[in-house]
Amino acid sequence: MEIIHVAAECYPMAKAGGLGDVVGALPKYQNQLGHVAKVVMPMYRTKFLYDNQWELVHEGNQHLGQHFFRYSVIKEKTNKLGFDLYLVDINGLLDRENIYGYDDDTERFLSFQIAVCDWLNKWEHTPDVIHCHDHHTGLIPFMIKNCFEFREKLAGIPTVFTVHNAQYQGWIGWDKYYYLPAFDSWKWGLLDWDKAINPMASAVKCAWKVTTVSNSYLTELKGAANGLENLFNYEQGKSYGILNGIDSQVWDPLTDSMIAKNYDKELVEKGKRKNKKELAGQFGLDPDKPLISFVGRLVGEKAADLLPEAISQSIYQHHGNANFLVLGSGDPELEERLNQMKKQFGGFFNSYIGYSESLSHQIYAGSDFLLMPSRVEPCGLNQMYALRYGTVPMVRNIGGLKDTVTDMGDPQGFGIRFDKASVWDITYSVGRAIDLYTNKPDLYSWMRKYMMTIDHSWDSSAQQYIDLYKSLK
Ligand code: ADP
Ligand code: GLC
Repeated sequence: MEIIHVAAECYPMAKAGGLGDVVGALPKYQNQLGHVAKVVMPMYRTKFLYDNQWELVHEGNQHLGQHFFRYSVIKEKTNKLGFDLYLVDINGLLDRENIYGYDDDTERFLSFQIAVCDWLNKWEHTPDVIHCHDHHTGLIPFMIKNCFEFREKLAGIPTVFTVHNAQYQGWIGWDKYYYLPAFDSWKWGLLDWDKAINPMASAVKCAWKVTTVSNSYLTELKGAANGLENLFNYEQGKSYGILNGIDSQVWDPLTDSMIAKNYDKELVEKGKRKNKKELAGQFGLDPDKPLISFVGRLVGEKAADLLPEAISQSIYQHHGNANFLVLGSGDPELEERLNQMKKQFGGFFNSYIGYSESLSHQIYAGSDFLLMPSRVEPCGLNQMYALRYGTVPMVRNIGGLKDTVTDMGDPQGFGIRFDKASVWDITYSVGRAIDLYTNKPDLYSWMRKYMMTIDHSWDSSAQQYIDLYKSLK
């Protein structure tokens, strides 16, 4: 089958979070299964763009309302990622350093989607499936079915839409509806949700199939979907939960070139001790104490706002018997607070405010526990990386965390789970972590070895997507 993935992120070209990891790995595994999966994304000005060789494959003209634009599509020459990567360049709109966060993001991603439809419309053949990811690509299922200039050739191509995160929906005011290529105006309801053009809602309505990145999240969306609950209930017949995998070539402690010492499950104790020593040295922490880390976006969804209080309470209540490390960026006030706490709790807590791919690998390798108190977690990849690196996940009982981590109190359990995103639940769990680390060495050692044998690679999920595509033919 020929599959075109359309997304705003794809690692290593551009990544802001798990979406980039997924789009950078799933197509590779689909190709390994004998299919032809490709990715098309915007051309941002990233290091990967400058470090690689590109060939021009298409040039075209389109317009966003009355604004005319030219676009070009370039392809990475060597297939080095294990799939063909296409970038859409629109001068002045997409060629920026960051992925998101500009005032004209609506115009940027809408132009990108129009250019993708236009390019596919001009291809000499059609792909078997168009697979769109999250709201930045959510208007494509509507446009290819309903816009006059695309529908003749493209309307029959099956579309799959994956909801990675329904908190962000890409809302566009109706005053901008003229941006869209012409369509029968009576079809406006396919774009609308609560008096705005809602790309996430439109995709859920128009895509042939909808998937979410874990089963539990699919169930949760029917009760909590940032306003789209009724829609997810209504469309449940065409919706499926397919758990994300991890790229086990990129995330392998035995070959990872970003960490101080490579190890596998036989060498886990020694390997982690060495990585922890390096990490603790770098951040002024005590390598003999359990190290509990957090990696992620500093936003409410991840319950990052609880970290300052939960960490200080834990340090006081557990008499400084654990160390904490935070890597993240996001809410400026929270960033500031975490920076200030470094002085107050020096030797017990440290943070790196910013984005660092290599430090994230070092933290998964060098920490004893990884804390994820998320309020919403559609899948979560960090806990799967932690498992692969022999780091005990401490997670809230929600979404993909619930589907991938069991509690050490249950038979064969290998993690620490808690129910609420609250300071109390976190400090209590920190107590359990310290007890495990200090008083239960046999259980701790068994857990680490066991979790490293769990296979979360993409093999099975990549096949589930293929089966879903086949059901659409
Ligand atoms: P989300 O996509 O909601 O942010 P995921 O758990 O799916 O959450 O994926 C987060 C990804 O982003 C992981 O690969 C994680 O290591 C990475 N990440 C998040 N914040 C940072 C950061 N500050 N520096 C480096 N990597 C980060
Ligand atoms: C989203 C979710 C995260 C998920 C990722 C990849 O960003 O917040 O839980 O793992 O997408 O699907």
